[in-house]
Amino acid sequence: MKLGVIRETADRERRVGLVPETARRLAKKGIEIVVETDAGRAAGFVDSDYRDAGATMAADATAVLAQARTVVKVQAPSDDEVAALAGGTNLVSLLFPLANPSLAGRLAARGVNAIALDRIPRTTLAQAMDVLSSQATIAGYRAVILGAAELPKFFPLLMTAAGRIDPARTLILGAGVAGLQAIGIARRLGAVVEAYDVRAAVKEQVESLGATFVDIGVATDAETAGGYAKEVGEDVQRRANEVIGEHLEHTDLCITTALIPGRPAPKLLTAEMVRRMPPGAVVVDIAAEQGGNCELTRAGETVEDSGVRILGPKNLPSDVPHDASQMFSRNVEKLLLYMLADGELQFDFDKEIVRGCVTTFDGKIVDDEVAQAAA
Ligand code: NAI
Repeated sequence: MKLGVIRETADRERRVGLVPETARRLAKKGIEIVVETDAGRAAGFVDSDYRDAGATMAADATAVLAQARTVVKVQAPSDDEVAALAGGTNLVSLLFPLANPSLAGRLAARGVNAIALDRIPRTTLAQAMDVLSSQATIAGYRAVILGAAELPKFFPLLMTAAGRIDPARTLILGAGVAGLQAIGIARRLGAVVEAYDVRAAVKEQVESLGATFVDIGVATDAETAGGYAKEVGEDVQRRANEVIGEHLEHTDLCITTALIPGRPAPKLLTAEMVRRMPPGAVVVDIAAEQGGNCELTRAGETVEDSGVRILGPKNLPSDVPHDASQMFSRNVEKLLLYMLADGELQFDFDKEIVRGCVTTFDGKIVDDEVAQAAA
């Protein structure tokens, strides 16, 4: 198998789909690897690292795509990239095909076998391949760092010759992958941390990280059999808003990470709730690209309302491109090795993971949900 890696062309994307460490391991398994010059530069991986790992370099994407029948990248391909992919090429990247079913249609029409990394099921077996989780870990970390930099306060409690400085108070809404990471980082920076989630099962995880679980006083366990959240009733959300609103009165930094798979981001913070926060407070809404958990959020912008700043950051993993690429690349490696047999990727649709993430195959959209969205 010849595996190609091309440079990301999307605006502000600094990650690379495959890092030298992974290239080395795959090369040892007999996979030939060809990398576009400077593909890893923005993430801190130079061409000589790839050469040392056993890859060959090609001058541009066209030269890579002319040789490689399997292509790895981070972001979904641009129109130009789709046009440059030869029929029969296997494409491994993020695709978000439910949000962009027309792209799936174009890939199918070109005869590209597209593997959507964002459609890998969140199962135990697939954990090591779960790109959404690895990148959400980075988003959770980065949300705290951004919030800490915006706050007019320290995070930790300080006892100094100039007196005592109280720790910052942080509230994390949504304690999934990103939220739990945010809790851990905020605690390590010394903040007092509270967290809320609609899934009762995460209370214990929140507490094990040293945070306090916000009890809304109503039994909710909005969890599906697959472990995901489902939408809560209006009554529960109203009660949650009342309790969260009270907590916001003493919250310096609120990080929102709530997500229900396949739905727009649930609205957890109304403008009225934000206005209850102390002056100088900060909201970091990492669900901004999914419509935001806060009514005031604008994706990619910072909004100010009654002395509170609301950040709606996009593509946080690209802010930590070196480690984000390492994690992404290791996830890809696990998926490739899972699908590899006799030196080629095998599309065995009896396997749950393959069924989950292969969007187009042999000229057709094979993911039923995507096919429905494309119809
Ligand atoms: P996840 O599914 O692991 O966690 C989401 C959590 O929200 C779950 O624990 C769920 O129970 C909770 N939740 C759902 N409805 C809720 C409600 N009404 N109230 C309180 N909690 C609720 O998702 P993950 O991977 O942690 O991602 C979180 C968000 O971060 C997503 O919107 C994702 O798209 C976004 N994200 C943003 C990035 C960026 O660059 N801005 C990068 C990576 C992820």
